Amino acid sequence: MVVKDFRRSDPLFRLLIGPILIRRERGALKKLSDVEGVPHLVESINRYAIVIEHIDGKSLRDSCGPVPEGFFDRLAEVVRAVHERGVTHCDLRSSGNVIVANDGSPYIVDFAACVLQGRGWNPFINFLFRQFAAADDHAVLILKRKHAPEALRPEDVEQLATPIPYEQFARSFGIAVRNLTRRLLTRARPDKG
Ligand SMILES: Nc1ncnc2c1ncn2[C@@H]1O[C@H](COP(=O)(O)OP(=O)(O)O)[C@@H](O)[C@H]1O
Ligand SMILES: [Mg+2]
Repeated sequence: MVVKDFRRSDPLFRLLIGPILIRRERGALKKLSDVEGVPHLVESINRYAIVIEHIDGKSLRDSCGPVPEGFFDRLAEVVRAVHERGVTHCDLRSSGNVIVANDGSPYIVDFAACVLQGRGWNPFINFLFRQFAAADDHAVLILKRKHAPEALRPEDVEQLATPIPYEQFARSFGIAVRNLTRRLLTRARPDKG
């Protein structure tokens, strides 16, 4: 199992930011409990900590060698299932957030930066949600270009060449949340992508 725990971070962050990030991730994992390719929420310890199923494998960042054939098609299906349940990830360009499980299947972790679809019929919120979903799809293609360029199809190349209007905003948001959690949870230095 994996435990995300803010209880030992700086007092101010623990009080103000930790519960927000934990609530986001817990909310997303609950909505995604039936999605193959997203680890299960095992237990909610308190407002500062959750326990998540551990996926045996390696993140794209840590794995060396080629990814299994069809990996990115299956990853795109996981992302589609995540969007269908009203969740966008917003930090999929980080190769640390995609895991190649030991059986070769893709898993997505780290929903701290996620954006949820609004409940009501709010055109602006729904518009934003669609932009974030498009940014996720784009991020999958960027990872594919980096880790399996030979698998890119002509339509992928075309899509990669088409700018996504709010991608930079979604990306900056994802990086900010990632660096914040890293600063709070670990002693590692923040990164840029
Ligand atoms: N459920 C999980 N199973 C296996 N490894 C995980 C899991 N969740 C996170 N990890 C590993 O821990 C790393 C950091 O976790 P993550 O949730 O992405 O936090 P952050 O990006 O804020 O450091 C990931 O890149 C991944 O390698
Ligand atoms: Mg991460």
